[in-house]
Amino acid sequence: MIRMESVTKRYPDGTVAVDRLSLEIPDRSITVLVGPSGCGKTTTLRMINRMVEPTEGTISLDGADLQQQPVTTLRRSMGYVIQNAGLFQHRTILDNIATVPRMIGWGKQKSRERAAELMERVGLDASLGKRYPYQLSGGQQQRVGVARALAADPPVLLMDEPFSAVDPVVRKGLQDELLRIQDELGKTIVFVTHDIDEAVKLGSMVAVMRTGGRLAQFAPPAELLSDPADDFVEDFLGADRGIRRLSFFPSAGLELTTRPVVRVDATAEQLAAADGPYLLVTDADGRPLGWAEPRDLTPGALVPERLLSHGRPFLPGTDSLRAALDCAVLSPTGWAVAVDADGRVTGVVSQQAVGEAIRAAHGAGPAAGTPAARPATAAVTEAAP
Ligand SMILES: Nc1ncnc2c1ncn2[C@@H]1O[C@H](COP(=O)(O)OP(=O)(O)OP(=O)(O)O)[C@@H](O)[C@H]1O
Ligand SMILES: [Mg+2]
Repeated sequence: MIRMESVTKRYPDGTVAVDRLSLEIPDRSITVLVGPSGCGKTTTLRMINRMVEPTEGTISLDGADLQQQPVTTLRRSMGYVIQNAGLFQHRTILDNIATVPRMIGWGKQKSRERAAELMERVGLDASLGKRYPYQLSGGQQQRVGVARALAADPPVLLMDEPFSAVDPVVRKGLQDELLRIQDELGKTIVFVTHDIDEAVKLGSMVAVMRTGGRLAQFAPPAELLSDPADDFVEDFLGADRGIRRLSFFPSAGLELTTRPVVRVDATAEQLAAADGPYLLVTDADGRPLGWAEPRDLTPGALVPERLLSHGRPFLPGTDSLRAALDCAVLSPTGWAVAVDADGRVTGVVSQQAVGEAIRAAHGAGPAAGTPAARPATAAVTEAAP
């Protein structure tokens, strides 16, 4: 564990960048430092690997004061990733990634093998290894930066706004990749961003800092969203924190009904037995085709062209209540369609029922039944047709 105790950094010109900051950064999870520009995030991160020395207070790693440890040993136990990756422009991708292994005396062959292995791990095609950084996209360069930081397998990874220079789609990919890598490798990651959505998505714990280098709140993201410590944190979280908090509630508990669901080859009896202001017509395999009013349906001749769009379905168990609500809100009938991993309808749920589940969930709090502090998939699944 990295522990900061009342750490202050005053630069020589008198600027107080960090003011009596106390934090306990848990092992093997992602802790995010978030806050407006100039609030001391980078300074805090750099004090952890001693690129910047604190003016007051102590920082310890696994109980040992950082001041007692040789800087070189310390830096090797901490990978560092920055915005725009900061790659060596005159070195190939493979050689960039192999930098630290080479530095600590691994042979050329072993270092390159390690680099190739890491390229795969961060989702880069092996063919890119011989290129130079300028021949890669921003997102690819950022992946190289992560691979380089991981090369010597350091237990700690420090990341300073690593994804802020890429577009939102690439950025989402990089975030997902980081979560996957973290699941596999279990690093202790300290991640700096000024983007609260990124903080909420990635962090197990989030430290919100305010100008003047002071800590405003340190909490799991769901708690930040439900109980912001003060007006500053509330403002920083933005207007729709209630909706965003729903990402932390699973949709698995929603009560689905199949009563309005009919197959395209339904008999008159089956059609008569179906119930609802709208009926969801599926194909013979159970995949959704669209909604129709019961009076528009004739047995044996349900015409797909006359159907209302079924909208995007959600996957209970994978998607969050936020995703289910989104489906219901976007559905032309106000009913959300639930599917299994193969895209077959498992039932439907009304906007009203989603609303009731949300009220119940808010009462229970996000911890109930969800061991992970991480949000369930926030986006609606793309997998189903
Ligand atoms: N070497 C330095 N000398 C004097 N002041 C500095 C120095 N480095 C940073 N500062 C000041 O310390 C404060 C915190 O800077 P820091 O870089 O830690 O902020 P930050 O939260 O990372 O900001 P950003 O989001 O813009 O990267 C700022 O007011 C900055 O101007
Ligand atoms: Mg910074």
